[in-house]
Amino acid sequence: MNDRFGRNITYLRLSLTERCTLKCAYCRAGEGFCPKKSELTRDEFLRIVRAFASIGVKKVRLTGGEPMLRRDLIPILSGIRAIDGITEITMTTNGQHLAGQCRALREAGLDRLNISVDSLKPERYAEITGGGSLALVLAGIEEAFAAGFPSLKLNVVLLRGQNDDETDDFIALTKDRPISVRFIEYMPLGETDQANLRVTGAELLKKHPQLVPVEPFYPGQPSRDYQMPGYVGRVGLIDPMSHRFCADCNRVRVMSDGMIRPCLGSNTEFSLKEALEQNDDDALLAVIAQAIAHKPETHCFDEAFTAEKTMRHIGG
Ligand code: GTP
Ligand code: 5AD
Repeated sequence: MNDRFGRNITYLRLSLTERCTLKCAYCRAGEGFCPKKSELTRDEFLRIVRAFASIGVKKVRLTGGEPMLRRDLIPILSGIRAIDGITEITMTTNGQHLAGQCRALREAGLDRLNISVDSLKPERYAEITGGGSLALVLAGIEEAFAAGFPSLKLNVVLLRGQNDDETDDFIALTKDRPISVRFIEYMPLGETDQANLRVTGAELLKKHPQLVPVEPFYPGQPSRDYQMPGYVGRVGLIDPMSHRFCADCNRVRVMSDGMIRPCLGSNTEFSLKEALEQNDDDALLAVIAQAIAHKPETHCFDEAFTAEKTMRHIGG
């Protein structure tokens, strides 16, 4: 289905839960343990994906919070796999719960994995993430390759003075393996605005002038991709603050509370809850169409933007 600016919506980001075991500095530094709020059921998620598939969505990314905290993750995955029209299922995870699960994820139909890892120094990683274990993430990466994931994307939110001295080490990960390291500009979707910590894509390119631009994996992808000459993997810049990619945006988001959000950088949302409760698939499609019709031309991450939900709720 096209929105009013002619953008074809083919990509659904589905946040399975707001819960997360980490407390990343740029996301939810002040919050304690996240209680389990009312989350959609597996059947509700599957009905939503079926509705999206019927209007042309082909790709589903599972997000959170931390999607691996859903006990029914594997049945959700295989349920989505069985839906006609869905050709790609991907997941973004904090990597804390991957070890021991990669084979099951792959067998259930997960095509690709994106893993957040904001430092390669164990103590610093623990500090940025509020107690996370780098060893678990690294074990998860190894296991993912062993389980047959052909390539991996690693997400690094660059924070000035906290991890921006590690870019060489991250880029080195792309030397021999099909790893894309994506350096992400901080977006104002945390609990507190930390714009002063943002490192821009342009700064990164200035620091690493050897990076050579390469074609994107798919049109409209958030990252602008580069390669070190002779390296197997890629370096991506996801810099929506300084380099908008909204004109090519092909995605909408559904969150675990049953709200649909047409744009990451706008607080506008619509509720699927009533249509789900009434078992009314026509009503479900009508709300989805309404949300797509209200997708803004561009995000509103300017001075005036105040996030009503954090990244933990929205899923990135
Ligand atoms: P693929 O291209 O499918 O691999 O995924 P992705 O890079 O879109 O997904 P991922 O969940 O790994 O997100 C990486 C970063 O891109 C996160 O910081 C997201 O918040 C950001 N991102 C993803 N989609 C959008 C978008 O539509 N707008 C903005 N501003 N940021 C986005
Ligand atoms: N700005 C930019 N990226 C963020 N992420 C989480 N919070 C922010 C933020 N405020 C990234 C994480 C995760 C992805 C889904 O979103 O790195 O990999």
